Amino acid sequence: MTDTQVLAALAALEAHRVDVGHRRIRDLFVGDPGRANRLQAEMDGLVLDYSKHRVTDATLAHLLGLARAADLEGKRDALFSAAHYNNTEGRAAMHMGLRDFSGEPIMIDGADMRPAIEAERDKMLAFAQAVRTGAVRGSTGERITDVVNIGIGGSDLGPAMAVRALSPFAGEGPRAHFVSNVDGADIADTLKGLDLKRTLFIISSKTFTTQETMTNAQSARARVAAELGEAAVADHFAAVSTKLDLVAKFGIRADRVFGFWDWVGGRYSLWSSIGLVLAVAIGRDHFLAFLRGGHDMDRHFAQTPLQDNLPVLMGLLGIWYRNAWDYSAHAVIAYDQRLARFAAYLQQLDMESNGKCVTRDGEPVQMATAPVIWGEPGTNGQHAFFQMLHQGTSVVPVDFMVAARAIDADAHHHDLLVANCFAQSEALMRGRTREEVEALLSAQGLSDFEIARLAPHKVFPGDRPSSTLIYQQLDPRTLGRLVALYEHKVFVQAAIWNINPFDQWGVELGKELCSGLAPVVRDRAASLAALEPATAALIETRRRLQG
Ligand code: F6P
Repeated sequence: MTDTQVLAALAALEAHRVDVGHRRIRDLFVGDPGRANRLQAEMDGLVLDYSKHRVTDATLAHLLGLARAADLEGKRDALFSAAHYNNTEGRAAMHMGLRDFSGEPIMIDGADMRPAIEAERDKMLAFAQAVRTGAVRGSTGERITDVVNIGIGGSDLGPAMAVRALSPFAGEGPRAHFVSNVDGADIADTLKGLDLKRTLFIISSKTFTTQETMTNAQSARARVAAELGEAAVADHFAAVSTKLDLVAKFGIRADRVFGFWDWVGGRYSLWSSIGLVLAVAIGRDHFLAFLRGGHDMDRHFAQTPLQDNLPVLMGLLGIWYRNAWDYSAHAVIAYDQRLARFAAYLQQLDMESNGKCVTRDGEPVQMATAPVIWGEPGTNGQHAFFQMLHQGTSVVPVDFMVAARAIDADAHHHDLLVANCFAQSEALMRGRTREEVEALLSAQGLSDFEIARLAPHKVFPGDRPSSTLIYQQLDPRTLGRLVALYEHKVFVQAAIWNINPFDQWGVELGKELCSGLAPVVRDRAASLAALEPATAALIETRRRLQG
């Protein structure tokens, strides 16, 4: 594999785009009755339908050629072998080890981590169960009814998404709340209505230095100390971090501190002790089922030929549109209300991982990388931004997600939900031609003048690609599979672009500037002379408006 081979494969893909570009997706089904079934891949009840893409067999062959030129299989094997894939931070990316039920040793940096992983998980799950059963109580002996996770980024988005997704599995567990933003409104609004005597705070931070989390943690601590007394702090806080020394300084009891390891990236940490709030919310067995789902997908990704491999197919389809068609956005629309936070979670997973402009070797990357990832659940999105998806000037490929059956919702509702989902993907693909519009308007008895006036507005260009992911039901194991599916999809794209998806240097500059600015913002008399003029102007304006 060389850069030259990758660039040659990409050039061939771009040339192929010119060949295939004039063919409408709808027409690809004509004379190919097997297309709809052929362009489906399945992993044990999780089906990816990718028939509504601008792809032919030749396109898929080009994409697989590109994957081989980029040595995707070699890179995947290196990832699973715990090589230091995260080369700029000098560490492995082995979150898969946290959900590995193979019983084999999990070798990382020369040591078998399995015993430590299992011991930490057992300790965390035992605590979660104790909170759920009432064995762990507040300082006044009251049962814990509310758990507040204080964290941000990967220490918030994954757990918040999963708690919501798996709410039918909560049973009698405590309610889970999430505080992430340094905006004081977040913690104030969350604590409103909570009884601190019955509340447990979990401080979740890989580094235990993140400004937002530490600020919120100190505010929560102050509230507990003020309302329940300093001695109560020990009973109302737990923590999850890789920096156990910093946690100790905060004053959290050692038996309520749960660790993990630096080879677990923040946005991949839901599988670790960072999942404590999820474990409290859904209980030990459901949490383990979630991990098992992740392991299912790891085995699928590691062992399935590329052409049948779900994350590989999804990653390559994304490459096709990003690099050959120059589409810069990608929507993820779950027809599943409980996946309401899935797109927000994916934004960090995808954009913090692949939003890079240099290769693993520090050279400028030769291709466009991460598209903008966004989405909202269907059907709500249909009444908001779908207009743009159907008739806007930019094409946005879509991932639709839908369960074959609802966990607990009314079947009539669910059938309507599924019908909406399938109708939208069909509408995006088919579109509606000028001739079809004119025939419809004519059938409605409109005059030729009115038809000519209205027809352009009612034409749908169509040819807008989408995948549909169909799963049996949104249970813990399925959610584990879906999350790991997208993790590996992101990895596949990083492998093609030859970037390191496991670092996030791009978040540093803003953090550094903020530490410098915070004292000047706080002190209204501080001199602004040394600041960037544009920033000084903003501070002056703010001071004026503060009154
Ligand atoms: O936004 C940068 C980041 O480092 C993320 O990668 C991470 O998930 C988040 O901040 C929170 O970090 P921590 O868990 O260390 O508080």
